[in-house]
Amino acid sequence: MDSLLIKGGVPLHGDVQISGAKNAVLPIMAATLLTAERCVIRNVPDLSDVKFMGRILESLGCTVKFEGDTLTVQAHRIKGHGDYDLIRKMRGSICILGPLLGRLRKADVSQPGGCVIGTRPIDLHLKGLRALGAKIVIEEGYVRAKAPRLTGTEIFLGGRSGPTVLGTANVMSAAVLAEGVTIIESAACEPEVSDLAHFLNSMGAKIQGAGSPTVTITGVKELHGAEHEVIPDRIEAATFAIAAAMTNGEITINGARPEHLNAVIDKLREAGVKLERRGPALVVKRGGVLKPVDVTTLPYAGFPTDVQAQMMALMCLTPGISIITERIFESRFGHVAELGRLGADISIEGPSAIVKGGKRLSGAPVMASDLRASAALVIAGLTAKGTTQVNRIYHLDRGYEKIDAKLKQLGGRIERIKET
Ligand code: EPU
Repeated sequence: MDSLLIKGGVPLHGDVQISGAKNAVLPIMAATLLTAERCVIRNVPDLSDVKFMGRILESLGCTVKFEGDTLTVQAHRIKGHGDYDLIRKMRGSICILGPLLGRLRKADVSQPGGCVIGTRPIDLHLKGLRALGAKIVIEEGYVRAKAPRLTGTEIFLGGRSGPTVLGTANVMSAAVLAEGVTIIESAACEPEVSDLAHFLNSMGAKIQGAGSPTVTITGVKELHGAEHEVIPDRIEAATFAIAAAMTNGEITINGARPEHLNAVIDKLREAGVKLERRGPALVVKRGGVLKPVDVTTLPYAGFPTDVQAQMMALMCLTPGISIITERIFESRFGHVAELGRLGADISIEGPSAIVKGGKRLSGAPVMASDLRASAALVIAGLTAKGTTQVNRIYHLDRGYEKIDAKLKQLGGRIERIKET
């Protein structure tokens, strides 16, 4: 497996371009299953998760073509039974369930397991689809869903930790072809859900209110092909902003869409980082002495769980005590032990990490446990004394397009070591 070798201590400077959002493009790709006509998706990031979703669509019978950052999918004749082993490998592939059910009125999709960040149940997805009229059983590791008819209804999708992003995507994608009106209450408000709704509407769906907790979907008989440009990746933008602050540099993040980053910008300002909005770009520099902050992850528009690990890396450098509380995923602290290898002083108490920051980190070999943990280790390595080797970086390649090349362009001393 490839690893990254990082020599810390160089401030990042220059411009970086943000790629299309992973968590927007995956449900959008799945939604192409809703029509037999051709769909063209632009600003598609070159990520292993995206390629993987392409393979899943192919296994269902779609024609899939990647050309640069443009993806064309035609789901002319498809089947509703997915390849067990293929689908099981990527948790995000659960978002094919709603589109398959909408189009074919049946779907067999491998049940996703938990992962290092938590148990990741799908009860809310199933609750929503059952409310639309689907009969669903879990059998032989599959979620088997059938719905001779899908009928619009009122569905409450709030769970223990708030709304569900992919659950909202699944219910929305099935309801667009249901009879009558569906109202989702406590829908996820993430920009990725709004982006999916824009795509579905350009296919002929009638969705109102996406991006708010109440989404109203008036079912239509069929959808047609469409073209769509994916929104920029707000988590990638936040990661670069924190990297600039950590290395005491100054960077311009092009295509950052600061309006999707309000909670992150607010916390970084509280921590003493200078951020200036320039249209769709964000200019970030350290500004002065960093201040400790307390952060709690919440559903959008709160502070994103997908930026928790990177924020913790920043707090490791910040003199004083910061408390970072994770409210979305129960075990998303895989980075704590690895940041500890770099010399960070972090202890866990229930859902909170107590970070005693202010010491310079020192490089060491570390192992990433998940995507955002990997990102945190990379940006920590950029400031650490000496060399940090981040192993198992396939996680990073799942969700950050060419992160090593982008950091290098900003002056970071980072090399990819290919496994021989
Ligand atoms: N939950 C339930 N029941 C469900 C579904 C979710 O209890 O049926 C709980 C989860 O266990 C969690 C909370 O609800 O406690 C929120 O989970 P959600 O369903 O919103 O997560 P997801 O849709 O599976 C997406 C992103 C994640 C991101 C979360 C939260 C994709 C492909 N994944 O997951 O992204 O952390 O929303 O914003 O969109 C990442 O990119 O690194 C990543 C993990």
